[in-house]
Amino acid sequence: MSLKDVFEKNPNRRYIMFGGKGGLGKTTFSAATAYWLASQGKKVLVFSVDPQASLTDIFQKDIFGKGPVKIMENLWAQEIDADSHIKNYQGEIRKKILDMYGFDQIPEEIEDYIQAASAEPAMEESAIFDAVVDIIVEGKYDYYIYDLVPLGHALYYLSMAKVYDEWINKITKLREEMREYETMVAKIKRQKETDEDKILTELMYIKGRINASSGILTDKEKTAFFFVVVPEEMIILDTQKAAELFAKFDVPIAGYVVNRVLPTELHTQNVPAYLKNRLAMQDGYLDKIKVTLGDQVKGFVPELERDVTGLAMIEKLAKIMYG
Ligand SMILES: Nc1ncnc2c1ncn2[C@@H]1O[C@H](COP(=O)(O)OP(=O)(O)OP(=O)(O)O)[C@@H](O)[C@H]1O
Ligand SMILES: [Mg+2]
Repeated sequence: MSLKDVFEKNPNRRYIMFGGKGGLGKTTFSAATAYWLASQGKKVLVFSVDPQASLTDIFQKDIFGKGPVKIMENLWAQEIDADSHIKNYQGEIRKKILDMYGFDQIPEEIEDYIQAASAEPAMEESAIFDAVVDIIVEGKYDYYIYDLVPLGHALYYLSMAKVYDEWINKITKLREEMREYETMVAKIKRQKETDEDKILTELMYIKGRINASSGILTDKEKTAFFFVVVPEEMIILDTQKAAELFAKFDVPIAGYVVNRVLPTELHTQNVPAYLKNRLAMQDGYLDKIKVTLGDQVKGFVPELERDVTGLAMIEKLAKIMYG
């Protein structure tokens, strides 16, 4: 089954991800896939959570922090600016504190705390996470293509969603139990109702959002996660390990795409010994890939004559990948 077949046979899979180690072609494949789907008349958003503005490079357009930027008919690209999300966060927190406690100014100790908390790396992660949830929940596009960060990091996001979820489950449960007691006490005191539990409402809200986004990641019906690999020994080994980890997080793997395959026509040409040797090595690794991954491999993409940047190169690659 080709990459194109995978898409055509699973029209409900609207969340597309290319994962893999650093520099193997995740952003390139994301852009080419977005381009192909858009030219099929689908409304597509390709977005990045990587602070290193990679979509800006490939589309040769300044996208960072600008919201969805239109690239061509049906195609939008977005790069999330975590810093500005953190600033908004801080603003919201200040407002909540002012509202809740009726201060007219944030006390200095609390302001210091807000500043310190924002400098935590977890804050950036959670700002990004939040922004992604916003994009997904809005649901304006036919396809969402996640331009993922390298593997280790993607796994970190997944595990974070799981930890968050468990943590929030616990607090929510505690909170609900407390709520029961409160209602009981209110009855005894013959009060009509207890005050609305603002914290519980907030927790339920966060929980709903986490479930919405991590639910997508693990939904076979809606999500396709492709691994990008290249024909090299270490990459094959690392990818196998990563695939096992992903399985632990219940991420369904839609297939593997092999990138940077040296053009096969070189075999029949009179090439220098150096290249001959590389070709032979690559053949070995390609065989290994075919044996270990079998029909999970959905495509082989050749090494092109230059980097893939700009729409003309993206189109060229999209034609190779999707015919
Ligand atoms: N088939 C190909 N032929 C030629 N160049 C390619 C091909 N695939 C990728 N490249 C080039 O390789 C470089 C890395 O690709 P890309 O940025 O897509 O990798 P990545 O997996 O997104 O990297 P990162 O992990 O840093 O996000 C880019 O310069 C890209 O243009
Ligand atoms: Mg990238």
